[in-house]
Amino acid sequence: AAKELKIRDCTPKYANQRVAVHAWIHHVRNQKKIVFLELRDGTGYLQCVLAGDLVHPSIVENLKREATIRIVGTLLLPPADKKCPGGVELQADYWQLVGSSSPDLEGIINQESNIDQMFDQRHILLRGTRASSIMKLRSICLHAFRQHFFENGYFEVTPPTLVNTFCEGGSELFTLDYFGSPAYLTQSSQLYLETMIPVVGDAFCIAQSYRAEKARTRRHLSEFTHLEAECPFITYEQLQDRIEFLICDVVEKIFAIDGDLLRSINPNAKVPKRPFMRMNYVDAIKYCNDNKIMKKNEDGTESDFQYGDDIPEAQERKMNDQIGEPIFLCRFPADMKAFYMARCPENRDLTESLDLLMPGVGEIVGGSMRISDYQELMNAYKKEGLDPSQYYWFTDQRKYGTTPHGGYGLGVERFLTWVLGEEHIRNVCTYPRYTGRCHP
Ligand code: 4AD
Ligand code: MG
Repeated sequence: AAKELKIRDCTPKYANQRVAVHAWIHHVRNQKKIVFLELRDGTGYLQCVLAGDLVHPSIVENLKREATIRIVGTLLLPPADKKCPGGVELQADYWQLVGSSSPDLEGIINQESNIDQMFDQRHILLRGTRASSIMKLRSICLHAFRQHFFENGYFEVTPPTLVNTFCEGGSELFTLDYFGSPAYLTQSSQLYLETMIPVVGDAFCIAQSYRAEKARTRRHLSEFTHLEAECPFITYEQLQDRIEFLICDVVEKIFAIDGDLLRSINPNAKVPKRPFMRMNYVDAIKYCNDNKIMKKNEDGTESDFQYGDDIPEAQERKMNDQIGEPIFLCRFPADMKAFYMARCPENRDLTESLDLLMPGVGEIVGGSMRISDYQELMNAYKKEGLDPSQYYWFTDQRKYGTTPHGGYGLGVERFLTWVLGEEHIRNVCTYPRYTGRCHP
C-alpha cells in the first residue's frame, strides 16, 4: 500500500517508494501526452508527472487549477539539471478527483484587475505562492513573539475588546450599541494590561485593536493585531532596552525557525544592530529643520517645524529613511501625547514616551512610562476632560500598591511590513480592514 504523506515529508528519504498525497493543484502544464502538475497542501509544493491513461482526454479536463485530488505514485529523484521543491518528483500511477474547480477561476483576477478587484477576491489571492508564504511568516512571527515573552518570564493575558472607556483619543473610536448602552471597540488593551501587572507581573497580550481613522495610507488599518506589554518596577531606559531586545530577538527567532522562507520574501531581511539610535523630540524638530524637511501648512506654504508641532507621517519617514536605521523618538511634549503618560523628572513639560521608527515603514511601536501617582492621574483625567468614574478600575491601580511601570504597543502588521520589506500593510493581513473595506 502507498504511504500517505504530507508534502513536507515528500523528500529523498522516500525516494523510489510509493506514496499518496492529498492536495490542491497549484499549477498545471498540459503537454497533451504528458501533464505536469505542481501540487500544494499548505505544508509545501510537489511536482508530479502524469502520463498515459492518467491523462486520457476524457478525464484530463478535471485537472484544473485549484481542484483537489488524491494522487498516488512513486517519488523519484529528479535528474541533476532539474530543480524540484523538496528534492523529489512524483511519478503518478493513479489519481482521483476530490473536488473539482470551476473554470471561471481564471477570469476572477487577471493582469488587468485593480487593487480593489484583487482584494474583493482576497480568499483566492491568499492561495498564491507569495501570499501563502507571508501568511506562514505571520504565524511564525506571532509564535516568535510568544516565545520571546515566555522565555523572559511574561504571562499572556486576554483583555476584552468590547469596552466603555477610551485609551488613545476619542475621535478614532468605533462605537456600537451594547444592549442599549454605548460601547466601543477597543483602541488598545493597555489600560486593562496595567491592571494585570499586580496579578501576573510582566504581562503581554496579542489582541485586535480598532481605529476609526479615515487615513487611507499604506500603513493604516481600521482593525489591526496589537501586541502590548506592561512591566512593573522598570525605568524609562529599561523600557527602551526591552523593546530593542524584543525586536532583535524576534527577528533572530524568525530566522532560526525558517530563514529560507523569510529570505524568499525579503532577501534584505536582517537583525538590526543594537543599541538603536535614541533621539529626543526636540532634536527631531531640529533635524528636520536642519535637513530641509519642511512643515506643510494648510495654505500650501512650507515652513520650519516649531516646538509643539506634530511631525507628520511623511516627514517622519523622510527623516527615518535618511538616517537609515531604527530610531527611538523620545520625550514628546505632554500636550501632544496620551493622558496616562508619566512626565520626565528633569522637565515636567515632557513625557517619558517613545515611538520606535523603522526605515521604510515608520512608527511600529508606541510606548511610555505611566503615571503612577493617584493625584497626578486624577489631574490628567481632568485636563483631558475624562470622567474619572468610568476609569475607577484603572485608577485603583494607583490606590492599592502603585508601582512605577511602563509598557508599549507594537502593531503586528507594521512589524511584518517592515521585516518582510512589503510595500503595503494590506499584504500582511488575512482580510485587511481599512477605510472603505469591510469585506470579504
Ligand atoms: O501608538 P499607539 O496608538 O499606542 C497605543 O495604543 C498605546 N496604548 C500602546 C501601549 O502603550 N500599550 O499604537 C501602538 C502601535 C503603533 O505604533 C502602530 O504600530 C500600531 O499600534 N497602530 C496601527 N497599526 C495599523 N493601523 C493603525 N491604524 C494603527 N494604529 C496604531
Ligand atoms: Mg503612536
